[in-house]
Amino acid sequence: MKKIFAFVLAALFCLSGIAFAEAKPELHMGTNANFPPYEYHEYVDDVDMVVGIDAEIAAAVAEYMGYDLVIDEMEFGALITAVSTGKIDFAMAGMTVTDERKESVNFSDTYATGIQVIIVKEGSAITSVDDLFAEGANTIVGVQESTTGDLYCTWDIEDEGLGTVDRYKNGADAVQALVTGKVDCVVIDNEPAKAFVAANTGLVILDTEYAVEDYAAAFAKENTELLDKFNEALKALTEDGTIPAIIEKYIPAEEAAE
Ligand code: ARG
Repeated sequence: MKKIFAFVLAALFCLSGIAFAEAKPELHMGTNANFPPYEYHEYVDDVDMVVGIDAEIAAAVAEYMGYDLVIDEMEFGALITAVSTGKIDFAMAGMTVTDERKESVNFSDTYATGIQVIIVKEGSAITSVDDLFAEGANTIVGVQESTTGDLYCTWDIEDEGLGTVDRYKNGADAVQALVTGKVDCVVIDNEPAKAFVAANTGLVILDTEYAVEDYAAAFAKENTELLDKFNEALKALTEDGTIPAIIEKYIPAEEAAE
């Protein structure tokens, strides 16, 4: 009996040893998962998961670097502070590289392009970006708080006295405000715009560009070691086709050309 017990104990020790050897350090990515196709919730085998281009690229990069990826969700406007205070290791959220953000964080190499577009109701009097800047138009623009769409519209429209900016917690809420007539248009990134328009009837994306931007991951200023490793992984996984395949899965090329 004693022998069996000793054997079981020894076996347990071995198992825990293996488990210990295989446990990788965690890498915490912050995001705001209401931004399809970059990050959004989806049930995978009955489990509520954060999926999307950023989630999958981050998982591949983390694996390449020898980490287990953990996704921490928060408001978009909280991400930069979470990065700079070390609450998370990096942020990936379809985040645009801007000079203001660069004062607080370092950005990785860019992995995607975003375009700020305008969503309106079918038949809207707004037909181009210029209509938003028209004197006396008094447009009410819906945006996601703290995004570049918010910043640009605040500077170009609200600060100029040309209209109002209504800020929502996420893009879906801004689009809902458009559907119910609370705002006249929504300024948001093109790929989420396509997803939101597809999910609602009676909305269209105007064939006009407010701004063209680069997306990158954000790191704490002092954590250049992780940033360098991340860029190395991004490069290798782009060259071996992993990242292009992830992007193609969510944004098929023929659709992107439309
Ligand atoms: N590209 C825009 C920005 O950086 C919007 C990003 C919003 N991302 C999100 N996951 N909600 O401000």
